[in-house]
Amino acid sequence: MATELSEQELALADVRQRAVADLEQIGTTEDLEEWRTRYFGRERGEVSAILKGLGKLPPEQRKAVGQAANALKAELEGLMEARGQELRAAERLAALDRERLDVTLPGRRAARGHIHPISQTIRDISRIFRLMGFQTLDGPEVETDYYNFQALNIPVDHPARDMQDTFWVVPGQILLRTQTSNNQIRIMEQVRPPVRAIVPGKVYRHEAIDASHEAMFHQVEGILVDETCTMSDLRGVVTRFAREMFGANRKVRFRPSYFPFTEPSAEFDIDCIVCDGKGCRVCKYSGWLEMGGSGMVDPRVLRGVGYDPTIYRGFAFGLGIERIAMLRYGIDEIRLFSGNDLRFLRQFT
Ligand code: DAH
Repeated sequence: MATELSEQELALADVRQRAVADLEQIGTTEDLEEWRTRYFGRERGEVSAILKGLGKLPPEQRKAVGQAANALKAELEGLMEARGQELRAAERLAALDRERLDVTLPGRRAARGHIHPISQTIRDISRIFRLMGFQTLDGPEVETDYYNFQALNIPVDHPARDMQDTFWVVPGQILLRTQTSNNQIRIMEQVRPPVRAIVPGKVYRHEAIDASHEAMFHQVEGILVDETCTMSDLRGVVTRFAREMFGANRKVRFRPSYFPFTEPSAEFDIDCIVCDGKGCRVCKYSGWLEMGGSGMVDPRVLRGVGYDPTIYRGFAFGLGIERIAMLRYGIDEIRLFSGNDLRFLRQFT
């Protein structure tokens, strides 16, 4: 028995030690492939080189070294195979982990919009008038001079035009409506009485802007025509509206006024919702808040749409929607409605 190790046996022991140590450092199947080439590669693999060199050894050494080299080869291949399995399993798990779906995680809340306070007010107004049998209709914002003025008894040189500074699209012919009253005409032209409708929508006036005036704002027009309607019906409808909107005990007051398309005409107020009529800053110490204009549809207007004023009578009214929204939400600056400031809008979620 040889007690001294041959040069080749030492070389094998050295290769083994390095190969095993290197294998332990390996973290990926790619590195493992590199390792395989380093030791078993056909051209330069260290174990392959030893096996190839066997032929040059003296015959008495050849057998022992050959056996040892083959044993090392088998051992290292076994280790490589085992390491390969571990690494492939770990890589599969890591891939699964990247795709993992935790179905118990709470969902992410999607940002949700909400109704603008003006739209909400319009919806509430429509609901209240629907209770009284009014349907809600729509009409054009770009309008002709005829529907916005002339058919409403406001001829070209009428001084009432000065009250509503107009944005003209085609000067003298086409305009942005200055009032929703254009729809009185449009509705009556299309249907025979009885008529009972409201039309909410945007109106435009070329005026100086401040905390209570905007160049674009909203009105709601109301019209009722049948054979028996009177001014006290108008009063009843407006009062019911005020009470549904602002509280069951609201008082409504009518003041004589003038509008070219109604005769008689009246403006109406409600007792101040802030101070209940005692007088405060909001009602400018009058105890009353102006709500809108109204009146009995002028016979000339009825005749213009082909209604016989000896048979039919009607009333109409117009309300400012911003005014209503400002009162119900306690807002003192009209420009907030169209300012698109989220700090304002988020308060209405
Ligand atoms: N259109 C009028 C305005 O903008 C408001 C108005 C007054 C409407 C009397 C009416 C009405 O229907 O009858 O000032």
